[in-house]
Amino acid sequence: MSIQQTAVVGAGTMGNGIAHVLALHGVSVTLIDVDADRLDAATDTIAQNLDRQVEKDRIAPDDKTATLDRVGTTTDQATGVADVDLVVEAVPEEQALKAEVFDALDAHAPADAILASNTSSISITWIAARTERPERVIGMHFFNPVPVMSLVEVVRGQRTTDATFEAVAGLSEELDKTPVEVEDYPGFVSNRVLMPMINEAIFCVMEGVAAPEDIDTVMTLGMNHPMGPLTLADFIGLDVCLHILTVLHEDLGEDKYRPCPLLRRKVTAGELGRKTGEGFFTYD
Ligand code: 3HC
Repeated sequence: MSIQQTAVVGAGTMGNGIAHVLALHGVSVTLIDVDADRLDAATDTIAQNLDRQVEKDRIAPDDKTATLDRVGTTTDQATGVADVDLVVEAVPEEQALKAEVFDALDAHAPADAILASNTSSISITWIAARTERPERVIGMHFFNPVPVMSLVEVVRGQRTTDATFEAVAGLSEELDKTPVEVEDYPGFVSNRVLMPMINEAIFCVMEGVAAPEDIDTVMTLGMNHPMGPLTLADFIGLDVCLHILTVLHEDLGEDKYRPCPLLRRKVTAGELGRKTGEGFFTYD
């Protein structure tokens, strides 16, 4: 299946990054959000991130113009998905919101369109079971910053067909990403491996094993990670980390995923990381 026309639902950090890479690689994309201001902010962000790529000679100035020409925006989800081959949902990680969005997508997108979710923690099988097309529902899990990170976890729900998997894996390759096939279990591979490391780093802070910057230095210099786990947690958002750990803990039922009490305390206090200016570190 050739994917030419797409829509991305949710114009936050992940949504605008996904629209950026689709459009940069020649795919038309309609970015959909309930908030018109967020759509304006998202197109500004895409333009700024394309400028970075032009400045670094990664793309030509003309590529920027052509990419922006391929990005449309709308607040009307029904018309935005009326003529698409693929929709990628990237709304916040709230189960009731995902349900509402997928009910609408199933009603308004063409019957043969693929419905993908960028969810990091909600079951693809659960989302698919709400729709009339579970064989064409799949996880397409991108990583932040989307224009830079070259992985897509392609998550197969219980009833996802090979044809759907191959279409989405093929598209990921066309976007210059490496698709990795993953089965639908809590946290997939990425967050099941990453979040316990972040959680353990937070336990180290809580128990006074070392200062936050020193914990990060151990992992950047000792393990060659580009960011230490606490900087990465701030970058992802401490609320998002807590949510994913809670899903791992509840759905897998093992104490090893128990969220650190210090993580809970910081989220309760509104210290969510980079987006609020305060997490394990402070930001301008
Ligand atoms: N758009 C386009 N280009 C961007 C960009 C963006 N949003 N953000 C950064 N870049 C480019 C820069 O221009 C630069 O390009 P160059 O290599 O051509 O010079 C390159 O990326 C590196 O950026 P910087 O020089 O500004 O900064 P760093 O070298 O510190 O790299 C980083 C920044 C790429 C974020 C790096 O620190 C990194 O890889 N961190 C780890 C990120 C990570 O682990 N992400 C996954 C999070 S988990 C997730 O998303 C899943 C979810 O389910 C939780």
